[in-house]
Amino acid sequence: MTIKEIIKKYSNKLDRLDLELILAHSLGKTREFVLTYPEKTVTSQQSAVSNKLIERRISGEPIAYITEHKEFYGLDFFVNKHTLVPRPETEMLVEQALNETWRMEHGTKNTYIIDVGTGSGCVITAIANSMERGAWSMEQKKSTQYYATDISEEALKVAKKNAKLNGVEKKIKFLHGNLLAPLLSNSCSMFHVPCSMVIVANLPYLSKEIYQSAPVDVKKYEPKTALFSPEQGLQHYRKLLEQVKKSLVLCSMFHVLCFLEISPEQKKLIIPVIRNIFPKAKIEFKKDLAGKWRVCGIEIK
Ligand SMILES: C[S@@+](CC[C@H](N)C(=O)[O-])C[C@H]1O[C@@H](n2cnc3c(N)ncnc32)[C@H](O)[C@@H]1O
Repeated sequence: MTIKEIIKKYSNKLDRLDLELILAHSLGKTREFVLTYPEKTVTSQQSAVSNKLIERRISGEPIAYITEHKEFYGLDFFVNKHTLVPRPETEMLVEQALNETWRMEHGTKNTYIIDVGTGSGCVITAIANSMERGAWSMEQKKSTQYYATDISEEALKVAKKNAKLNGVEKKIKFLHGNLLAPLLSNSCSMFHVPCSMVIVANLPYLSKEIYQSAPVDVKKYEPKTALFSPEQGLQHYRKLLEQVKKSLVLCSMFHVLCFLEISPEQKKLIIPVIRNIFPKAKIEFKKDLAGKWRVCGIEIK
């Protein structure tokens, strides 16, 4: 069969883009190749592989799990069933962290950028990659350290692989554990010198109701531990902020910025949660490209 014939066979069952991506993946070529050589004959083995993958997509599996790739912040990431598929709106966390780290003082201070619930590692890898390649001074680069945590060891394996794929594996320390716990328990001494801490987190934030009404392919294929959180979707963020408070008592850091991805209806709900823990924190919300409240920024001095 030719590429064109396979596309025609499935064109009424699947998006053309998905078909092209699956064919490219099963032929080990780019999508451009598929578009440029529609008359190319595929071997029976390649055809069997692509048919199988197409059937998986037809039954609802996300394309990123089938091709094992997802683009995020202009970089390529490996994904599998242990990791959430990176979403475009999460790129806002990268932007916020880069902008604010740039604005913060440097030099004598150390800056720790910490990605809590790193999943595929897309956020911390994109930040480290941009800072290493960007117009940052050597001093700024030297005084910035990157950490990422996740409760899932399988996700951490993927995150490490992605840091390597994008040339920043030596820059990021990946730690297994509950939120900030691995940093607080093992190496609190790292905070004994004055420092700034930028926390980025896209933790599970779907409430029970929103999780239940999520599309079937999300519920069936993406890990529930990456999506659902009790207390109207805010339990993980409440616990994270409590840990931040504990770290401030234990250690002498003096400037903390948190950027938390939320769902739009949580804008109102998260304010009392924050105020309860940090009554004087400065809170600011940002909208995503669709005009929906997406990031909650918290500044604690
Ligand atoms: C919504 S996913 C986000 C993954 C990635 N940051 C992204 O934006 O694509 C949430 C991640 O938080 C992790 N997670 C859930 N509970 C956690 C906890 N208590 N401590 C650390 N990580 C946790 C999950 O394993 C999952 O990888």
